[in-house]
Amino acid sequence: MDRMQDDDLQEAAVLGVLTTRWVGRHYRYVAETGSTNDQLKAWVETGANDPPAGTVLLADYQSSGRGRLGRAWEAPRGSSLLFSVLLRPGWPAERAGWLVMLAGLAAAEAITATTGVAVGLKWPNDLMVATKGQWRKVGGLLVDSGLADGRVAQAIVGVGLNVNIPAADLPTAVTPPTSLLVATGQPVARRPLLCACLLHLEQWMERAERGHSPQPEWNGRLITIGEQVQATTPTGPLVEGLAEGTDEWGSLLVRDAVGKLHTVVAGDVSLRGR
Ligand code: BTN
Repeated sequence: MDRMQDDDLQEAAVLGVLTTRWVGRHYRYVAETGSTNDQLKAWVETGANDPPAGTVLLADYQSSGRGRLGRAWEAPRGSSLLFSVLLRPGWPAERAGWLVMLAGLAAAEAITATTGVAVGLKWPNDLMVATKGQWRKVGGLLVDSGLADGRVAQAIVGVGLNVNIPAADLPTAVTPPTSLLVATGQPVARRPLLCACLLHLEQWMERAERGHSPQPEWNGRLITIGEQVQATTPTGPLVEGLAEGTDEWGSLLVRDAVGKLHTVVAGDVSLRGR
């Protein structure tokens, strides 16, 4: 395979090989934008490009890419996969947490299918690979959900995967980063990986539409479970203890030293002593 040819992410190249039925069938490539999540949201709000469910916007470079908790998401031009998917699930609001789960599962499966690299998930939205006995972050998800009348009217699922970033160019981050180039020791073609992500996302969405919760499979991939963790929450105090699992909606269940079970709905987790 010609890797450079397989790296072409422009519309004709992607639509020529994409095997999905609806995710990515409306696909837009831009060489550069601020943030694909923000640009896709602007399209939805202004009606520009009239984006239907499944619309994908991919950028080869983001000048103000966003991570969770107000962090920046940086990747050198042409090195990575940076894209957002518009979904209109219409599910009851309590199922909003399913989106980050199924997007994480889809990206993890796609990475393994195209590169052979095993992927774990770090609660709630980090894609991790083990290199030299240490878990490192290879990607992250940013889901911006819009609720209306108690339902998830729309969601923009942002996916950032560090694909061909050399070790020396990896961004500094709270969770030690890596890339698929570093993990595999060779450049990875981005187009097959993108198409696999979209296909697995469509499959997980369709399972969820049929009422199948992604929580058991997601819980099974979480590297955080069974570990001593520290969880920082946006509003509450620091929670320390044993991460026992997640509830049906994706909240992390942490048992502290006196046996009290805490439900951590949002925040950040670090594995203690690592
Ligand atoms: C995180 O790990 O904190 C989430 C990172 C999400 C990054 C992706 S890149 C494509 C999309 N556009 C953004 O601005 N962010 C997401």
